[in-house]
Amino acid sequence: MISFDSSKKIFKLSNSKYSYYFYINPLGYLVHLYSGKKLNELGIERTNERYIERYAFLNEEFKEVCDENYYYSEQGSLFECASFLKSDKRGAFAVIKHTDGSYITSFKYFSHKIVKGKVSSENYPHFKVNNFDKVETLIVTLKDEKEDIFLELYYVMYEKISGLIRFSKLINKTGKTIELDRICSLELDSYNKDFDLVSIHGQWGDDKELELEKVGHSKIVVNDNHGGRGFRQNPTIILKEHNANYDHGEVYMCSLVYSGNFKFEVGLDEYDQLRLQALISDEMFSFTLQNNETFSTPECILIYSSEGINKATQTMHDIVRENLLPNSYALKERPILINSREPFMFDFDTEKIKKLILDAKALNIEQVVLDDGWFGKRNSDNSSLGDLYVNEDKINLKEVIDFAHKNRMKFGLWVEPEMISPDSELFRKHPEYALYDRNTKPTLLRHQLVLDLTNDEVVDCVFKELEKIFSRYDIDYCKWDFNRYLSEIGSLHLGNEKQGEIFHRFMMGSYKLLNKFINRFPNVLLETCASGAGRFDLGMLYYSPQIWGSDETNPFSRVMIQFATNVFYPLSTIGAHVSAANSLTLQDKAIISLFGTYGYELDPDKLSEEEKNKVIEFNGLHKRFHHIVTKGDYYVLSSPYTSNFASWMCVSKDKSEALVFNFNFRREQTKGRFLRVKGLDPNKNYFNSLTNDVYKGDFYMNVGINISAPLKEGMTMLFVLKEVNFIVKNVLNNKANKKKREKLL
Ligand code: GLA
Repeated sequence: MISFDSSKKIFKLSNSKYSYYFYINPLGYLVHLYSGKKLNELGIERTNERYIERYAFLNEEFKEVCDENYYYSEQGSLFECASFLKSDKRGAFAVIKHTDGSYITSFKYFSHKIVKGKVSSENYPHFKVNNFDKVETLIVTLKDEKEDIFLELYYVMYEKISGLIRFSKLINKTGKTIELDRICSLELDSYNKDFDLVSIHGQWGDDKELELEKVGHSKIVVNDNHGGRGFRQNPTIILKEHNANYDHGEVYMCSLVYSGNFKFEVGLDEYDQLRLQALISDEMFSFTLQNNETFSTPECILIYSSEGINKATQTMHDIVRENLLPNSYALKERPILINSREPFMFDFDTEKIKKLILDAKALNIEQVVLDDGWFGKRNSDNSSLGDLYVNEDKINLKEVIDFAHKNRMKFGLWVEPEMISPDSELFRKHPEYALYDRNTKPTLLRHQLVLDLTNDEVVDCVFKELEKIFSRYDIDYCKWDFNRYLSEIGSLHLGNEKQGEIFHRFMMGSYKLLNKFINRFPNVLLETCASGAGRFDLGMLYYSPQIWGSDETNPFSRVMIQFATNVFYPLSTIGAHVSAANSLTLQDKAIISLFGTYGYELDPDKLSEEEKNKVIEFNGLHKRFHHIVTKGDYYVLSSPYTSNFASWMCVSKDKSEALVFNFNFRREQTKGRFLRVKGLDPNKNYFNSLTNDVYKGDFYMNVGINISAPLKEGMTMLFVLKEVNFIVKNVLNNKANKKKREKLL
């Protein structure tokens, strides 16, 4: 997969789907050549003619100019890692304040090695390698032009993945202290392909929306600087050819495995060439590195598809499920849960929770989660974060957990471990544990402050408290929340010189805490959450196989939130619950939730008999179909951004079953509409549960399923396509076959 052509000095990274080439130019710079569909051969002379880098090593003219006059402009070359303060003004890979105070930073080839297997970025969440994965890593070491500062670029290639994983590492060997002000995980320079950029943005309740922009000469910066929680933008983007859509055209999907402040910078240069850089945000990022100290970046995955966005999505879903999520839960069924917040908010006691357990059990729900309010003296959100001991006056936790288990129900607990309330015993004892500037009045978002997890003592203290609870009680699930972002921060622990390291060190402290937790309690199913659906990223998914999709459960908004999330993240990672939201029916909300981890946010006591029966029915449907959602291939059929419909489907890997979802936002009179599905085997016969017909996959994919009928607003359709042996149309429509049909569903 990875090789080095020493005569031409070309690095060739190529698997059966994707090729990535770059070379060492005569001055030692790493020059990018190609990233795209697998190539058998690269016509390097031709390729270079397209760039300003046309004076390549193959060109005698260049050699003369370069050797004799030492004139070379980096202005238009496509690089793997761009310099700073030289003639390339498009964005630096790294910015370093050198020992002489200068910021000129320029790295040139020093050595390289190709190793079998994957090298991962130390201490970060990262992609893993399974038994049968064929993986290689290329490590190219570069040296700064001025002094002994080394930069290692890592390129990891999996045989099965159309794309690469990249990260980098800086090593200070100057014998003195240097300051690191910026360092990228990935840089991708490319000649122009008329790119569009797709990103996700949002806020609480509108947690994820897709945004499409034309990539032009003004740099686009997709970023978040909240230090966690991060709704504003999400650490993932798509770059696509302007004409590419869900099924056609070239698409690059790029995601950071990081949950803190991040940045993607994208723009064209004066020669219409693209530069993409992905990094920990360089805002409030300034690291001092002593001699021999290193700084590694988070991993960044770049996925390539020549068959549109759906293919990139499927590739991303596969690698996240197979190589990132915690193994024990990655592809497993998760229990159907009900959360106590909707019925009780903070007003619960032992008897109420026991009743919830019984009510839920009667509806075949499998797990009860006790949300906020069980600890300290927390009866509203204005106190007690940090005091993680059970409020015995309110609840007998052992009794309810035993009761749940006796009733064969699982039991889960809400925590918000990275936070501290000023009104808490912990704060009164250790005000220095909070992250705030002593000379600035802190903004008390949700009446709380953030803990100083840059300090290992604080990480250990929080872990011990968590450990006490989770080892004393037999808890099956944990909802790990994070409800405010970082503002007016200051760390007494880091001291004056290192305040520029707070954001990143805080994130690494959170990861340490999560690591300790999952290692100590590997069987606890963890669901992270940040005020709803913030901090939804690959970093968090390394620890928690699911993240709460949004506090917004109104179907019209929820469909949009899930639609955007699905493009980048596997459906099995999206916490999706049916609520009492006063819009559409319980069935509509249940259908939407089937395309996530399934559960409820409502009071079963308030349901009508009919609704209770629906809950039972949909719990059965979830059991029946979750494997398609959890393990199958996802396709967008119709986008709500360009039509009145959000339609998607999941197809089992063996193409024997598919689950199709269709939702129209506005009312429509009868229009000639056929829903054309995707991903079936064209030659297999499929029964469809919408019209009870049997046709070939070919028919469903090219003609479609007739949904021409008046549609009231918010009409939610769900149907299954199942491979059958019948070839006669309408075979299941007659009465005699009714039983058979029911069985199929
Ligand atoms: C956040 C979460 C909610 C709930 C509350 C508890 O807002 O998103 O689901 O857990 O915290 O205070």
